[in-house]
Amino acid sequence: MVNATEAKTEQRARSGSFNQNKVKVLRPFNTSEVKILLLENVNETAVKAFKKQGYQVETYSKALVGEELIEKIRDAHVIGIRSKTKLTKAVLDQAKHLLAIGCFCIGTNQVDLQAAAKQGVAVFNSPFSNSRSVAELVIGEIIMLARQLGDRNTEMHGGVWNKVSKACYEIRGKVLGIIGYGHIGAQLSVLAEAMGMTVYFYDVLQIMPLGQAKPLESLDDLLAISDYVSVHVPETEETKSMIGEHEINQMKKGAYLLNNARGTVVNIPALTKGLQSGHLAGAAVDVFPKEPAANGPHFDYYPELLACPNLILTPHIGGSTEEAQSMIGLEVSQSLIKYINDGTSLNAVNFPEVDLRAIREDDKNTVRVLYIHQNIPGVLREINEIFADHNVEKQYSDSKGDIAYVMADIADVTDLKSLYSAIIATRANIQTRILY
Ligand SMILES: NC(=O)c1ccc[n+]([C@@H]2O[C@H](COP(=O)([O-])OP(=O)(O)OC[C@H]3O[C@@H](n4cnc5c(N)ncnc54)[C@H](O)[C@@H]3O)[C@@H](O)[C@H]2O)c1
Repeated sequence: MVNATEAKTEQRARSGSFNQNKVKVLRPFNTSEVKILLLENVNETAVKAFKKQGYQVETYSKALVGEELIEKIRDAHVIGIRSKTKLTKAVLDQAKHLLAIGCFCIGTNQVDLQAAAKQGVAVFNSPFSNSRSVAELVIGEIIMLARQLGDRNTEMHGGVWNKVSKACYEIRGKVLGIIGYGHIGAQLSVLAEAMGMTVYFYDVLQIMPLGQAKPLESLDDLLAISDYVSVHVPETEETKSMIGEHEINQMKKGAYLLNNARGTVVNIPALTKGLQSGHLAGAAVDVFPKEPAANGPHFDYYPELLACPNLILTPHIGGSTEEAQSMIGLEVSQSLIKYINDGTSLNAVNFPEVDLRAIREDDKNTVRVLYIHQNIPGVLREINEIFADHNVEKQYSDSKGDIAYVMADIADVTDLKSLYSAIIATRANIQTRILY
């Protein structure tokens, strides 16, 4: 009989000796050298990470289109893009060797995600690498609004000297109300407290507050108490025009509103009215319901807003920093490398997210099967019949829509070719890889 303490010691010893075993570096069966095609000046951090893996990397500074894109994507195992390259179904149909797509940006609208999934191509992006950049911008904006810096700067550029202190404030001791306490809201909370602000937040989820920040039960409570209101919610049906005339009227007279989230969250006519009437002392807006597709002197959608005082306007640059780009390069390249080398699909946006712990170096004849298949009844029975002659060390499967993914580590495999041929002959097979 083993008592609880002995059992724990034994467990620790076992897991200790387990950890001492080196992880087996897996090689792909039946695949040539991994070819990575990187377009649109994908950050150097990603190029370095891929080269370190020994992959063949081809880079282009611009987006490719039409025949040129099809020509290049034909041989690629992975394509890395930013927002300009359009990966439509027609383009993906030509990409016969493609395993994965890396969107080195936040959005994935430029990719036909469903077509990619149906082809067994996993798509990765980096939604949160720029949270810090946004949070820092908000801190800058709060100080700028408190000191009316936007207006003073414009006046000085026009040769006007206007030294005033009326209605200019320190931010220390003021109340910041954060709507949406996610990646950005939480970062902002910490930075704002370090500047001496008191932080309250409102979120639909129950979230552990950082520092001294306090959650509030309702949006109205938050609006009524805050000197500065900063919005950090996603764009959803519920958040559309979340801040309209009613909400602005709930805010204190002389308060400030900041929107660095999404343009649809704040109603622009209501904001304009709030600023024109003087109910709001200022605002910062980085995102708009309608934004131009390209840079240039054509931002003329909101003429009345543009004429408002103490208003900081920026062209959706909240997350646009060198550091964020570098983080995006690292994060997306790591997701892709894990997917190629180990089959781990964690963080994929169009694909079931599946992971297995590593195979140990001394498990010489254990192989990893990565089976992407149609999500139809009876597939697991079929695949397990193929595995039945071996010992399945571990196996995990999950599905998303029409696509399902099995990761399985199979021991004592000596005839890889037969195993591979049997799996790709199954009726639901979309794409199968074996790592050994
Ligand atoms: N300006 C920029 O350049 C820039 C850069 C990055 C992100 N963003 C935007 O910033 C916003 C926040 O991003 P994030 O990374 O912090 O997102 P996140 O998903 O980490 O956090 C969003 C938070 O909002 C909460 N939320 C959702 N609906 C809500 C509602 N109706 N009321 C209250 N809370 C609600 C969620 O529970 C979550 O905690 C997003 O809209 C994102 O698109 C803008």
